[in-house]
Amino acid sequence: MAGFGEKLSLLKKVYILDLARPLLDIADRRIQAAGWTNVETVEADATAWTPPEGKADVVTFSYSLTMIPDWFKAIDHALHILKPGGLIGVVDFYIARKFPDGRQKRQSFATRSFWPAWFSCDNVFLSSDHYPYLDFRFQTERFTENKLTIPYFPLFWWKMPYYIYVGRKRSAGPNEERSR
Ligand SMILES: C[S@@+](CC[C@H](N)C(=O)[O-])C[C@H]1O[C@@H](n2cnc3c(N)ncnc32)[C@H](O)[C@@H]1O
Repeated sequence: MAGFGEKLSLLKKVYILDLARPLLDIADRRIQAAGWTNVETVEADATAWTPPEGKADVVTFSYSLTMIPDWFKAIDHALHILKPGGLIGVVDFYIARKFPDGRQKRQSFATRSFWPAWFSCDNVFLSSDHYPYLDFRFQTERFTENKLTIPYFPLFWWKMPYYIYVGRKRSAGPNEERSR
């Protein structure tokens, strides 16, 4: 099976976007060390940046939607820059709605109340609306949820829910891109 580096080399171009230059500097050093000539970092706002090629095949958000205040704009913008049939991938922490749809697990009152308060101290804003909004905007291909241990959190047995989402841009239909 091909490793990560081999898979990456199959892609024509990869842009790594962030508002934080120091974080991108670390990425630049790793890109250089690995010799990935097709990967470029960009200091820009994910709610507005458009690739020079105009459209993208894939857009991913790695633990970033919870740090983007206008996360719905970031999702709408991803929809805008994706080619028809293109994929969006998201991994992030989350809390479920009190009464989630059948595809999500129910969470306790303690989970839904405590984690948002804890994470907000670090300007990470957990939302119960990411998945419903992604599901509304895209054709859901995959939604899985799990729990992980938070480093340095004293109650090590109390794990944090996160989700992995993959959706496809519809070429037409009721949720196709709104006019901009
Ligand atoms: C928890 S970090 C995750 C970083 C990286 N994606 C990863 O997986 O390691 C969240 C990042 O989102 C970035 N961010 C917040 N708002 C943003 C925006 N509007 N556009 C681009 N990046 C943003 C922050 O600068 C921060 O580095």
